[in-house]
Amino acid sequence: MKICCIGAGYVGGPTMAVIALKCPDIQVAVVDISASRINAWNSDQLPIYEPGLDEVVKQCREKNLFFSTDVEKHVSEADVVFVSVNTPTKTQGLGAGKAADLTYWESAARMIADVSKSDKIVVEKSTVPVKTAEAIEKILTHNSKGINFQILSNPEFLAEGTAIQDLFAPDRVLIGGRETPGGKKAIETLKSVYAHWVPEERIICTNLWSAELSKLAANAFLAQRISSVNAMSALCEATGADVSQVSHAVGKDTRIGPKFLNASVGFGGSCFQKDILNLVYICECNGLPEVANYWKQVIKVNDYQKSRFVNRIVSSMFNTVSGKKFAVLGFAFKKDTGDTRETPAIDVCKGLLGDKARLSIYDPQVSEDQIQRDLTMKKFDWDHPIHLQPLSPTAVKQVSVVWDAYEATKDAHGVCILTEWDEFKNLDYKRIYDNMQKPAFLFDGRNVVDVQKLRQIGFIVYSIGKPLDSWLKDMPAVA
Ligand code: UDX
Ligand code: ADP
Repeated sequence: MKICCIGAGYVGGPTMAVIALKCPDIQVAVVDISASRINAWNSDQLPIYEPGLDEVVKQCREKNLFFSTDVEKHVSEADVVFVSVNTPTKTQGLGAGKAADLTYWESAARMIADVSKSDKIVVEKSTVPVKTAEAIEKILTHNSKGINFQILSNPEFLAEGTAIQDLFAPDRVLIGGRETPGGKKAIETLKSVYAHWVPEERIICTNLWSAELSKLAANAFLAQRISSVNAMSALCEATGADVSQVSHAVGKDTRIGPKFLNASVGFGGSCFQKDILNLVYICECNGLPEVANYWKQVIKVNDYQKSRFVNRIVSSMFNTVSGKKFAVLGFAFKKDTGDTRETPAIDVCKGLLGDKARLSIYDPQVSEDQIQRDLTMKKFDWDHPIHLQPLSPTAVKQVSVVWDAYEATKDAHGVCILTEWDEFKNLDYKRIYDNMQKPAFLFDGRNVVDVQKLRQIGFIVYSIGKPLDSWLKDMPAVA
Protein backbone atom coordinates (compact mmCIF):
# COMPACT_ATOMS: atom_id res chain seq x y z
CA MET A 1 0.00 0.00 0.00
CA LYS A 2 1.13 3.56 -0.71
CA ILE A 3 0.05 6.52 1.40
CA CYS A 4 0.52 10.18 0.54
CA CYS A 5 -0.20 13.08 2.87
CA ILE A 6 -0.75 16.57 1.47
CA GLY A 7 0.48 19.11 4.03
CA ALA A 8 3.67 18.62 6.08
CA GLY A 9 2.56 20.55 9.15
CA TYR A 10 2.01 19.88 12.85
CA VAL A 11 -0.55 17.18 12.07
CA GLY A 12 0.65 15.66 8.78
CA GLY A 13 4.35 15.39 9.72
CA PRO A 14 4.13 13.57 13.07
CA THR A 15 1.12 11.44 12.07
CA MET A 16 2.76 10.12 8.93
CA ALA A 17 6.07 9.56 10.71
CA VAL A 18 4.31 7.33 13.24
CA ILE A 19 2.34 5.46 10.55
CA ALA A 20 5.64 4.80 8.73
CA LEU A 21 7.28 3.57 11.94
CA LYS A 22 4.43 1.26 12.86
CA CYS A 23 3.76 -0.02 9.32
CA PRO A 24 7.08 -0.98 7.71
CA ASP A 25 5.11 -2.59 4.85
CA ILE A 26 3.57 0.75 3.83
CA GLN A 27 5.32 3.46 1.77
CA VAL A 28 4.53 6.91 3.16
CA ALA A 29 5.16 10.18 1.30
CA VAL A 30 4.53 13.58 2.88
CA VAL A 31 4.24 16.39 0.34
CA ASP A 32 3.95 20.15 0.69
CA ILE A 33 4.02 23.17 -1.60
CA SER A 34 6.44 24.87 0.79
CA ALA A 35 9.97 23.89 -0.32
CA SER A 36 11.54 25.30 2.84
CA ARG A 37 9.30 23.14 5.02
CA ILE A 38 10.13 20.00 3.03
CA ASN A 39 13.85 20.83 3.13
CA ALA A 40 13.61 21.14 6.90
CA TRP A 41 11.86 17.76 7.20
CA ASN A 42 14.75 16.28 5.21
CA SER A 43 17.40 17.92 7.42
CA ASP A 44 18.60 17.49 11.01
CA GLN A 45 16.61 20.56 12.05
CA LEU A 46 12.95 19.50 11.74
CA PRO A 47 10.51 22.37 11.11
CA ILE A 48 8.55 21.69 14.31
CA TYR A 49 9.65 20.98 17.88
CA GLU A 50 7.95 17.94 19.31
CA PRO A 51 9.47 15.67 21.99
CA GLY A 52 10.37 12.26 20.51
CA LEU A 53 9.70 13.26 16.89
CA ASP A 54 13.38 13.35 15.84
CA GLU A 55 13.95 9.70 16.70
CA VAL A 56 10.84 8.52 14.87
CA VAL A 57 11.73 10.48 11.72
CA LYS A 58 15.36 9.30 11.81
CA GLN A 59 14.30 5.66 12.01
CA CYS A 60 12.09 5.73 8.89
CA ARG A 61 13.25 8.59 6.68
CA GLU A 62 14.43 7.38 3.26
CA LYS A 63 13.29 3.85 4.17
CA ASN A 64 9.50 4.04 3.95
CA LEU A 65 9.02 7.71 4.85
CA PHE A 66 9.73 10.41 2.28
CA PHE A 67 9.28 14.18 2.29
CA SER A 68 8.87 15.82 -1.11
CA THR A 69 7.60 18.84 -2.99
CA ASP A 70 6.59 16.67 -5.93
CA VAL A 71 2.96 16.77 -4.87
CA GLU A 72 1.44 15.47 -8.09
CA LYS A 73 3.72 12.46 -8.51
CA HIS A 74 3.13 11.14 -5.01
CA VAL A 75 -0.60 11.80 -5.10
CA SER A 76 -1.02 9.99 -8.40
CA GLU A 77 0.89 6.94 -7.09
CA ALA A 78 -0.95 6.69 -3.76
CA ASP A 79 -3.81 4.39 -2.80
CA VAL A 80 -4.71 6.52 0.20
CA VAL A 81 -4.35 10.33 0.20
CA PHE A 82 -4.52 12.17 3.52
CA VAL A 83 -5.31 15.87 3.26
CA SER A 84 -3.89 17.94 6.08
CA VAL A 85 -3.73 21.46 4.67
CA ASN A 86 -4.49 24.80 6.27
CA THR A 87 -8.11 25.75 6.93
CA PRO A 88 -7.90 29.41 8.06
CA THR A 89 -10.82 31.37 9.45
CA LYS A 90 -12.31 33.55 6.73
CA THR A 91 -11.40 37.22 7.13
CA GLN A 92 -13.66 38.54 4.37
CA GLY A 93 -17.02 37.84 2.79
CA LEU A 94 -19.69 35.39 3.88
CA GLY A 95 -18.99 34.03 7.36
CA ALA A 96 -15.99 36.33 7.97
CA GLY A 97 -14.49 35.81 11.44
CA LYS A 98 -16.16 32.42 11.90
CA ALA A 99 -16.40 30.20 8.84
CA ALA A 100 -13.48 28.09 7.64
CA ASP A 101 -11.79 29.21 4.46
CA LEU A 102 -11.59 26.06 2.36
CA THR A 103 -9.44 27.55 -0.43
CA TYR A 104 -6.48 25.25 0.25
CA TRP A 105 -8.71 22.22 0.72
CA GLU A 106 -10.54 22.87 -2.53
CA SER A 107 -7.35 23.34 -4.52
CA ALA A 108 -5.94 20.13 -3.03
CA ALA A 109 -9.13 18.27 -4.02
CA ARG A 110 -9.05 19.62 -7.57
CA MET A 111 -5.41 18.64 -7.88
CA ILE A 112 -6.17 15.10 -6.67
CA ALA A 113 -8.91 14.82 -9.31
CA ASP A 114 -6.54 16.13 -12.00
CA VAL A 115 -3.60 13.83 -11.40
CA SER A 116 -5.37 10.60 -10.41
CA LYS A 117 -5.23 7.63 -12.76
CA SER A 118 -6.42 4.96 -10.31
CA ASP A 119 -9.07 4.60 -7.57
CA LYS A 120 -8.25 6.40 -4.34
CA ILE A 121 -9.34 6.81 -0.77
CA VAL A 122 -9.19 10.50 0.20
CA VAL A 123 -8.91 11.07 3.94
CA GLU A 124 -9.91 14.33 5.58
CA LYS A 125 -7.30 14.89 8.30
CA SER A 126 -7.33 18.64 8.91
CA THR A 127 -10.29 19.77 11.00
CA VAL A 128 -12.98 21.07 8.71
CA PRO A 129 -16.60 21.97 9.33
CA VAL A 130 -19.31 19.36 9.11
CA LYS A 131 -20.31 18.54 5.53
CA THR A 132 -16.95 19.48 4.01
CA ALA A 133 -16.53 15.87 2.96
CA GLU A 134 -19.69 16.22 0.91
CA ALA A 135 -18.28 19.26 -0.92
CA ILE A 136 -14.99 17.48 -1.53
CA GLU A 137 -16.82 14.40 -2.75
CA LYS A 138 -18.68 16.57 -5.28
CA ILE A 139 -15.47 18.13 -6.59
CA LEU A 140 -13.84 14.74 -6.93
CA THR A 141 -16.76 12.89 -8.51
CA HIS A 142 -17.57 15.69 -10.97
CA ASN A 143 -13.95 15.60 -12.20
CA SER A 144 -13.33 11.89 -11.83
CA LYS A 145 -12.93 10.62 -15.42
CA GLY A 146 -14.39 7.31 -14.26
CA ILE A 147 -12.11 6.96 -11.24
CA ASN A 148 -13.71 5.89 -7.96
CA PHE A 149 -13.01 8.17 -4.99
CA GLN A 150 -14.04 7.25 -1.45
CA ILE A 151 -14.00 10.06 1.10
CA LEU A 152 -13.24 9.33 4.74
CA SER A 153 -13.05 11.62 7.75
CA ASN A 154 -10.28 10.64 10.16
CA PRO A 155 -9.86 13.58 12.54
CA GLU A 156 -6.62 13.87 14.48
CA PHE A 157 -6.85 14.19 18.25
CA LEU A 158 -3.14 14.61 19.05
CA ALA A 159 -2.14 17.54 21.22
CA GLU A 160 1.09 19.38 20.52
CA GLY A 161 3.93 18.74 22.93
CA THR A 162 2.66 15.18 23.43
CA ALA A 163 2.01 14.34 19.76
CA ILE A 164 4.20 11.23 19.60
CA GLN A 165 2.81 9.81 22.85
CA ASP A 166 -0.74 10.56 21.66
CA LEU A 167 -0.11 8.89 18.30
CA PHE A 168 1.52 5.80 19.86
CA ALA A 169 -1.33 5.25 22.31
CA PRO A 170 -4.42 7.16 21.17
CA ASP A 171 -7.53 7.17 23.38
CA ARG A 172 -9.38 6.44 20.16
CA VAL A 173 -9.04 6.59 16.40
CA LEU A 174 -12.12 7.85 14.64
CA ILE A 175 -12.94 6.88 11.05
CA GLY A 176 -16.07 8.20 9.35
CA GLY A 177 -17.26 7.10 5.93
CA ARG A 178 -20.20 6.50 3.66
CA GLU A 179 -22.55 3.70 4.64
CA THR A 180 -22.32 2.12 1.18
CA PRO A 181 -20.39 -1.07 0.29
CA GLY A 182 -17.62 1.09 -1.22
CA GLY A 183 -17.57 3.35 1.83
CA LYS A 184 -17.41 0.39 4.22
CA LYS A 185 -14.54 -1.14 2.27
CA ALA A 186 -12.61 2.13 2.45
CA ILE A 187 -13.17 2.30 6.21
CA GLU A 188 -11.80 -1.25 6.55
CA THR A 189 -8.72 -0.33 4.52
CA LEU A 190 -7.88 2.65 6.74
CA LYS A 191 -8.70 0.61 9.82
CA SER A 192 -6.12 -1.98 8.73
CA VAL A 193 -3.46 0.74 8.77
CA TYR A 194 -4.16 1.78 12.37
CA ALA A 195 -4.67 -1.86 13.43
CA HIS A 196 -0.89 -2.28 13.05
CA TRP A 197 -0.60 -0.77 16.55
CA VAL A 198 -3.97 0.43 17.86
CA PRO A 199 -6.21 -2.13 19.64
CA GLU A 200 -9.36 -2.82 17.65
CA GLU A 201 -11.75 -1.61 20.37
CA ARG A 202 -10.15 1.83 20.19
CA ILE A 203 -10.93 2.27 16.51
CA ILE A 204 -14.38 3.84 16.22
CA CYS A 205 -16.18 3.76 12.89
CA THR A 206 -19.05 6.19 12.24
CA ASN A 207 -20.79 7.96 9.42
CA LEU A 208 -19.01 10.93 7.82
CA TRP A 209 -20.89 13.68 9.60
CA SER A 210 -20.49 12.12 13.05
CA ALA A 211 -16.73 11.93 12.57
CA GLU A 212 -16.48 15.54 11.40
CA LEU A 213 -18.73 16.86 14.17
CA SER A 214 -17.04 14.79 16.89
CA LYS A 215 -13.76 16.62 16.31
CA LEU A 216 -15.36 20.05 16.64
CA ALA A 217 -17.37 18.84 19.65
CA ALA A 218 -14.34 17.34 21.45
CA ASN A 219 -12.37 20.56 21.11
CA ALA A 220 -15.35 22.67 22.15
CA PHE A 221 -15.87 20.52 25.28
CA LEU A 222 -12.18 20.76 26.23
CA ALA A 223 -12.07 24.52 25.69
CA GLN A 224 -15.30 24.89 27.65
CA ARG A 225 -13.70 23.26 30.70
CA ILE A 226 -10.86 25.77 30.60
CA SER A 227 -13.22 28.72 30.21
CA SER A 228 -15.34 27.35 33.07
CA VAL A 229 -12.38 27.12 35.44
CA ASN A 230 -11.05 30.48 34.24
CA ALA A 231 -14.42 32.06 34.99
CA MET A 232 -14.15 30.53 38.49
CA SER A 233 -10.63 31.98 38.84
CA ALA A 234 -12.03 35.51 38.64
CA LEU A 235 -14.54 34.67 41.35
CA CYS A 236 -11.77 33.11 43.47
CA GLU A 237 -9.78 36.35 43.33
CA ALA A 238 -12.86 38.29 44.41
CA THR A 239 -13.67 35.99 47.33
CA GLY A 240 -10.34 34.65 48.63
CA ALA A 241 -10.88 31.10 47.37
CA ASP A 242 -7.91 29.39 45.69
CA VAL A 243 -8.66 28.11 42.18
CA SER A 244 -6.17 25.23 42.47
CA GLN A 245 -8.00 23.99 45.55
CA VAL A 246 -11.35 24.45 43.85
CA SER A 247 -10.32 22.59 40.68
CA HIS A 248 -8.76 19.81 42.74
CA ALA A 249 -11.97 19.39 44.72
CA VAL A 250 -14.17 19.58 41.62
CA GLY A 251 -11.95 17.24 39.59
CA LYS A 252 -12.09 14.54 42.27
CA ASP A 253 -15.68 13.95 41.24
CA THR A 254 -15.18 11.01 38.88
CA ARG A 255 -18.01 12.28 36.71
CA ILE A 256 -15.99 15.44 36.10
CA GLY A 257 -12.38 14.20 36.30
CA PRO A 258 -9.18 16.15 36.90
CA LYS A 259 -8.00 17.00 33.36
CA PHE A 260 -8.22 20.39 31.64
CA LEU A 261 -9.10 22.23 34.82
CA ASN A 262 -5.91 24.28 35.15
CA ALA A 263 -6.73 27.97 35.34
CA SER A 264 -4.54 29.98 32.99
CA VAL A 265 -4.17 33.29 31.22
CA GLY A 266 -6.31 31.67 28.50
CA PHE A 267 -6.20 28.83 26.04
CA GLY A 268 -4.42 29.14 22.72
CA GLY A 269 -3.38 26.88 19.87
CA SER A 270 -4.49 26.33 16.34
CA CYS A 271 -7.66 24.40 17.15
CA PHE A 272 -9.80 25.52 20.06
CA GLN A 273 -10.83 29.00 18.97
CA LYS A 274 -11.00 28.12 15.30
CA ASP A 275 -13.06 24.99 15.82
CA ILE A 276 -15.50 26.70 18.17
CA LEU A 277 -15.94 29.55 15.67
CA ASN A 278 -16.71 26.93 13.03
CA LEU A 279 -19.21 25.30 15.32
CA VAL A 280 -20.84 28.66 16.01
CA TYR A 281 -21.11 29.35 12.29
CA ILE A 282 -22.63 25.95 11.58
CA CYS A 283 -25.20 26.52 14.34
CA GLU A 284 -26.11 29.92 12.93
CA CYS A 285 -26.44 28.51 9.42
CA ASN A 286 -28.78 25.86 10.78
CA GLY A 287 -31.02 28.43 12.47
CA LEU A 288 -29.81 27.69 16.01
CA PRO A 289 -28.80 31.09 17.45
CA GLU A 290 -29.15 29.97 21.11
CA VAL A 291 -26.73 27.09 20.56
CA ALA A 292 -24.37 29.40 18.67
CA ASN A 293 -24.38 31.92 21.53
CA TYR A 294 -23.77 29.22 24.10
CA TRP A 295 -20.51 28.20 22.42
CA LYS A 296 -19.54 31.77 21.55
CA GLN A 297 -19.43 32.46 25.28
CA VAL A 298 -16.52 30.02 25.67
CA ILE A 299 -14.45 32.28 23.41
CA LYS A 300 -15.65 35.44 25.12
CA VAL A 301 -14.54 34.17 28.54
CA ASN A 302 -11.17 33.32 27.03
CA ASP A 303 -10.79 36.86 25.66
CA TYR A 304 -11.94 38.23 29.02
CA GLN A 305 -9.29 36.18 30.84
CA LYS A 306 -6.52 37.67 28.68
CA SER A 307 -7.67 41.27 29.08
CA ARG A 308 -8.28 40.74 32.80
CA PHE A 309 -4.63 39.68 33.13
CA VAL A 310 -3.40 42.84 31.37
CA ASN A 311 -5.72 45.00 33.49
CA ARG A 312 -4.36 43.44 36.69
CA ILE A 313 -0.83 44.28 35.60
CA VAL A 314 -1.57 47.87 34.71
CA SER A 315 -3.74 48.63 37.73
CA SER A 316 -1.26 47.15 40.20
CA MET A 317 1.56 49.23 38.76
CA PHE A 318 -0.01 52.61 39.56
CA ASN A 319 -2.22 52.51 36.46
CA THR A 320 0.66 53.05 34.08
CA VAL A 321 3.22 50.83 32.45
CA SER A 322 4.45 53.47 30.04
CA GLY A 323 8.21 53.07 29.51
CA LYS A 324 8.41 50.25 32.06
CA LYS A 325 10.31 47.11 31.15
CA PHE A 326 8.57 43.73 31.32
CA ALA A 327 10.22 40.35 31.08
CA VAL A 328 7.86 38.04 29.23
CA LEU A 329 8.76 34.44 30.08
CA GLY A 330 7.22 32.07 27.54
CA PHE A 331 5.52 32.89 24.28
CA ALA A 332 4.40 29.49 22.90
CA PHE A 333 0.74 28.58 23.46
CA LYS A 334 1.81 25.85 25.88
CA LYS A 335 4.99 24.11 27.01
CA ASP A 336 6.98 21.63 24.91
CA THR A 337 6.13 23.25 21.60
CA GLY A 338 7.49 26.17 19.62
CA ASP A 339 4.03 26.80 18.19
CA THR A 340 2.62 30.29 18.76
CA ARG A 341 -0.65 30.04 16.84
CA GLU A 342 -3.36 31.91 18.82
CA THR A 343 -1.10 31.96 21.88
CA PRO A 344 -2.52 34.13 24.69
CA ALA A 345 0.93 35.77 24.78
CA ILE A 346 0.05 37.68 21.61
CA ASP A 347 -2.94 39.46 23.17
CA VAL A 348 -1.18 40.03 26.49
CA CYS A 349 1.90 41.53 24.78
CA LYS A 350 -0.25 43.66 22.50
CA GLY A 351 -2.20 44.86 25.55
CA LEU A 352 1.00 45.89 27.34
CA LEU A 353 2.43 47.50 24.20
CA GLY A 354 -0.83 49.41 23.84
CA ASP A 355 -0.04 50.94 27.22
CA LYS A 356 3.47 51.81 25.97
CA ALA A 357 5.40 49.17 27.92
CA ARG A 358 8.77 47.81 26.75
CA LEU A 359 9.05 44.02 26.44
CA SER A 360 11.97 41.65 26.72
CA ILE A 361 10.73 38.23 25.66
CA TYR A 362 12.29 34.82 26.31
CA ASP A 363 10.92 31.49 25.14
CA PRO A 364 13.14 28.40 24.86
CA GLN A 365 11.62 27.37 21.50
CA VAL A 366 10.30 30.47 19.74
CA SER A 367 12.48 32.59 17.45
CA GLU A 368 12.65 36.38 17.37
CA ASP A 369 11.41 36.38 13.79
CA GLN A 370 8.30 34.42 14.79
CA ILE A 371 7.54 36.71 17.74
CA GLN A 372 7.87 39.85 15.64
CA ARG A 373 5.68 38.27 12.98
CA ASP A 374 3.01 37.36 15.56
CA LEU A 375 2.95 40.81 17.09
CA THR A 376 2.43 42.50 13.72
CA MET A 377 0.12 39.98 12.06
CA LYS A 378 -3.59 40.63 11.65
CA LYS A 379 -6.09 38.37 13.47
CA PHE A 380 -6.60 35.02 11.65
CA ASP A 381 -3.74 35.67 9.17
CA TRP A 382 -1.49 33.05 10.77
CA ASP A 383 -3.21 30.08 9.16
CA HIS A 384 -2.05 30.64 5.60
CA PRO A 385 0.84 28.62 4.15
CA ILE A 386 4.13 29.99 5.43
CA HIS A 387 5.33 30.94 1.97
CA LEU A 388 2.35 33.30 1.60
CA GLN A 389 3.14 35.15 4.82
CA PRO A 390 5.37 38.25 4.83
CA LEU A 391 9.05 37.25 4.84
CA SER A 392 10.72 39.85 7.01
CA PRO A 393 8.17 41.51 9.22
CA THR A 394 8.68 45.09 10.35
CA ALA A 395 9.96 44.75 13.89
CA VAL A 396 8.06 46.24 16.82
CA LYS A 397 10.63 48.60 18.32
CA GLN A 398 9.61 48.26 21.98
CA VAL A 399 10.17 44.50 21.81
CA SER A 400 13.46 42.68 22.21
CA VAL A 401 13.85 38.92 22.19
CA VAL A 402 16.56 37.37 24.34
CA TRP A 403 17.81 33.81 24.87
CA ASP A 404 17.84 33.63 28.65
CA ALA A 405 15.37 34.34 31.46
CA TYR A 406 17.99 36.23 33.48
CA GLU A 407 18.78 38.55 30.60
CA ALA A 408 15.07 39.20 30.07
CA THR A 409 14.43 40.06 33.72
CA LYS A 410 17.46 42.34 34.19
CA ASP A 411 16.33 45.84 35.25
CA ALA A 412 12.70 44.89 34.60
CA HIS A 413 9.83 46.39 36.58
CA GLY A 414 7.70 43.30 36.12
CA VAL A 415 7.87 39.65 35.06
CA CYS A 416 4.99 37.94 33.23
CA ILE A 417 4.96 34.16 32.95
CA LEU A 418 2.83 33.25 29.94
CA THR A 419 3.86 29.64 29.18
CA GLU A 420 4.28 26.86 31.77
CA TRP A 421 7.77 25.73 30.64
CA ASP A 422 9.24 23.47 33.36
CA GLU A 423 12.43 25.57 33.54
CA PHE A 424 10.43 28.54 34.89
CA LYS A 425 9.66 26.58 38.06
CA ASN A 426 13.31 26.31 39.01
CA LEU A 427 14.75 29.71 38.12
CA ASP A 428 16.90 31.47 40.72
CA TYR A 429 14.21 33.98 41.69
CA LYS A 430 16.40 35.59 44.35
CA ARG A 431 18.93 36.47 41.65
CA ILE A 432 16.13 37.73 39.41
CA TYR A 433 14.70 39.87 42.22
CA ASP A 434 18.07 41.39 43.02
CA ASN A 435 18.51 42.51 39.41
CA MET A 436 15.04 44.06 39.03
CA GLN A 437 13.62 47.53 39.68
CA LYS A 438 11.72 47.85 42.97
CA PRO A 439 8.99 47.23 43.83
CA ALA A 440 9.45 44.05 41.79
CA PHE A 441 6.25 42.56 40.36
CA LEU A 442 5.62 39.05 39.12
CA PHE A 443 2.45 38.09 37.25
CA ASP A 444 2.07 34.35 36.87
CA GLY A 445 -0.38 33.52 34.07
CA ARG A 446 0.16 29.76 34.41
CA ASN A 447 0.36 29.20 38.17
CA VAL A 448 3.89 27.77 37.98
CA VAL A 449 5.72 29.64 40.75
CA ASP A 450 5.63 29.07 44.49
CA VAL A 451 3.79 32.23 45.53
CA GLN A 452 4.78 32.07 49.22
CA LYS A 453 8.49 31.69 48.45
CA LEU A 454 8.45 34.58 46.02
CA ARG A 455 6.64 36.85 48.47
CA GLN A 456 9.31 36.01 51.05
CA ILE A 457 11.99 37.11 48.59
CA GLY A 458 10.16 40.42 48.25
CA PHE A 459 8.15 40.11 45.04
CA ILE A 460 4.63 41.44 44.71
CA VAL A 461 2.97 38.39 43.17
CA TYR A 462 -0.22 37.98 41.20
CA SER A 463 -1.17 34.41 40.35
CA ILE A 464 -4.39 33.55 38.49
CA GLY A 465 -7.27 32.68 40.82
CA LYS A 466 -5.16 32.80 44.01
CA PRO A 467 -5.82 34.89 47.12
CA LEU A 468 -4.61 38.39 46.27
CA ASP A 469 -1.43 40.02 47.51
CA SER A 470 -2.35 42.78 49.99
CA TRP A 471 -0.80 45.21 47.51
CA LEU A 472 -3.30 44.24 44.82
CA LYS A 473 -6.24 44.32 47.22
CA ASP A 474 -5.73 48.03 47.69
CA MET A 475 -5.70 48.71 43.96
CA PRO A 476 -8.81 49.81 42.08
CA ALA A 477 -11.14 47.03 40.93
CA VAL A 478 -10.35 45.50 37.58
CA ALA A 479 -12.22 47.01 34.66
C1 UDX B 1 -6.00 20.48 21.18
C2 UDX B 1 -6.69 19.17 21.59
O1 UDX B 1 -6.27 18.79 22.90
C3 UDX B 1 -6.40 18.08 20.59
O2 UDX B 1 -7.08 16.89 20.92
C4 UDX B 1 -6.81 18.54 19.21
O3 UDX B 1 -6.53 17.57 18.24
C5 UDX B 1 -6.13 19.86 18.85
O4 UDX B 1 -6.39 20.84 19.86
P1 UDX B 1 -3.53 21.45 21.38
O5 UDX B 1 -4.09 22.72 20.81
O6 UDX B 1 -2.27 20.92 20.79
O7 UDX B 1 -4.60 20.27 21.26
O8 UDX B 1 -3.23 21.68 22.93
P2 UDX B 1 -4.00 21.44 24.31
O9 UDX B 1 -3.13 20.62 25.17
O10 UDX B 1 -5.38 20.96 24.13
O11 UDX B 1 -4.02 22.91 24.94
C6 UDX B 1 -4.76 23.98 24.37
C7 UDX B 1 -4.63 25.24 25.20
O12 UDX B 1 -5.32 25.12 26.43
C8 UDX B 1 -3.19 25.60 25.57
O13 UDX B 1 -3.00 26.99 25.41
C9 UDX B 1 -3.09 25.18 27.02
O14 UDX B 1 -2.10 25.90 27.71
C10 UDX B 1 -4.48 25.51 27.51
N1 UDX B 1 -4.89 24.74 28.71
C11 UDX B 1 -4.97 23.37 28.67
C12 UDX B 1 -5.23 25.42 29.88
O15 UDX B 1 -5.18 26.66 29.93
N2 UDX B 1 -5.63 24.71 30.97
C13 UDX B 1 -5.72 23.34 30.96
O16 UDX B 1 -6.11 22.76 31.99
C14 UDX B 1 -5.37 22.66 29.78
P1 ADP C 1 -1.70 21.69 10.82
O1 ADP C 1 -1.40 22.25 12.17
O2 ADP C 1 -3.17 21.40 10.63
O3 ADP C 1 -0.86 20.51 10.46
P2 ADP C 1 -0.06 23.48 9.23
O4 ADP C 1 -0.38 24.89 8.90
O5 ADP C 1 1.07 23.21 10.17
O6 ADP C 1 -1.42 22.83 9.75
O7 ADP C 1 0.24 22.64 7.89
C1 ADP C 1 -0.46 22.73 6.72
C2 ADP C 1 0.53 22.57 5.55
O8 ADP C 1 -0.21 22.39 4.32
C3 ADP C 1 1.43 23.78 5.30
O9 ADP C 1 2.78 23.38 5.40
C4 ADP C 1 1.09 24.24 3.86
O10 ADP C 1 2.22 24.69 3.13
C5 ADP C 1 0.52 22.96 3.24
N1 ADP C 1 -0.39 23.17 2.11
C6 ADP C 1 -1.44 24.01 2.00
N2 ADP C 1 -2.05 23.88 0.80
C7 ADP C 1 -1.38 22.89 0.13
C8 ADP C 1 -1.52 22.26 -1.18
N3 ADP C 1 -2.51 22.61 -2.02
N4 ADP C 1 -0.63 21.31 -1.53
C9 ADP C 1 0.37 20.93 -0.68
N5 ADP C 1 0.55 21.47 0.55
C10 ADP C 1 -0.31 22.43 0.95
